Amino acid sequence: MTRTETGNAGADSRGTRNTGTGNTGAGNTGAGNTGTRSGESDNRRTGNTGAGNRELVAERLLRSSARLSYDPVTAIDWTAPVDPDRYAARPERLSLYGTPLWDRLTEAQRRELSRQEVASIATSGIWFEAILMQMLIRHAYDGDPAASHIQWAYTEIADECRHSVMFAKFIGKMAAAGFRPDPVAHALGKVFKSTSNGPLTFAGALFVEELLDQMQREAVTDETLDPLTRAVARIHVTEEARHMRYAREELRRVWARRGGVSRAYSRFVLAVVAYFATTRLIHPDCYARVGLDPRAARRAARNNPHWRASTAWFARKAVATFTEAGLIGGPSRYLWRKAGLIDHTA
Ligand SMILES: [Fe+2]
Ligand SMILES: [Fe+2]
Repeated sequence: MTRTETGNAGADSRGTRNTGTGNTGAGNTGAGNTGTRSGESDNRRTGNTGAGNRELVAERLLRSSARLSYDPVTAIDWTAPVDPDRYAARPERLSLYGTPLWDRLTEAQRRELSRQEVASIATSGIWFEAILMQMLIRHAYDGDPAASHIQWAYTEIADECRHSVMFAKFIGKMAAAGFRPDPVAHALGKVFKSTSNGPLTFAGALFVEELLDQMQREAVTDETLDPLTRAVARIHVTEEARHMRYAREELRRVWARRGGVSRAYSRFVLAVVAYFATTRLIHPDCYARVGLDPRAARRAARNNPHWRASTAWFARKAVATFTEAGLIGGPSRYLWRKAGLIDHTA
């Protein structure tokens, strides 16, 4: 059943239509709450490992999705005006924060920059989701549709379709339509979504999902921010918790079966994905729209230690997962460092 949510993030006035898991906040992690600990106890009870556990996890995710999902078209009040006096993201999370260019902006320009930057990130979100949907379709194409984990893949694709419509409507409300895709990143995305292997499908998914999730969790809990941004973040955080659980499970499974050549290839391509996903989050048109020279502002953002620290913080969980699994290593570490995602000493 699809849940109806108030458009006012933070409040939950129509949450009573929830069919009753008690999962109401974006701070909550949806099916993520049913994570490793209960999965492990299920294994101990049933002796299930491997394929059996895969099905148990998928069934749990499907039940969670049936209890708590959203249709953002009706769940958010899209007629509510955007308050120009609020930031759409914390100032310290904006790409120019702390630079001389930031000091020269008026408060109104800074707030407008916040709306442009969150809309640019939503544009990237649609790009990521289009890639993910195709990868999941390819994954499901090879599977048995009677299996719960394949049914979960279809469910996740449906979630991502709704998210992309939500992000598109959000971009319109932020008066920030028309970011043109970076041609190199766009072309690489086209190749990646058509050719990704199993580890890359799930590691790529996990990287971009963790990145957005960390940003959005902050927005959900900050009551000073624009309510529409928080409402969008809240829906996304809740549903993405299930996606990340699935990606982690599948990644662990497929990575264990890969040999040395496949692992080296996957490490390299994942580093390219992480580099482009991170460095293309903020479109240079954001800067032009608040009266700055886009080339100079982009350069300032790339060299801005505050922004590099923020992107490293957004990516930290994915980086920790990949480091532990051995998905970051070898010469491709250069790209992770260049993107500011790992330390120069790593
Ligand atoms: Fe999504
Ligand atoms: Fe997702």
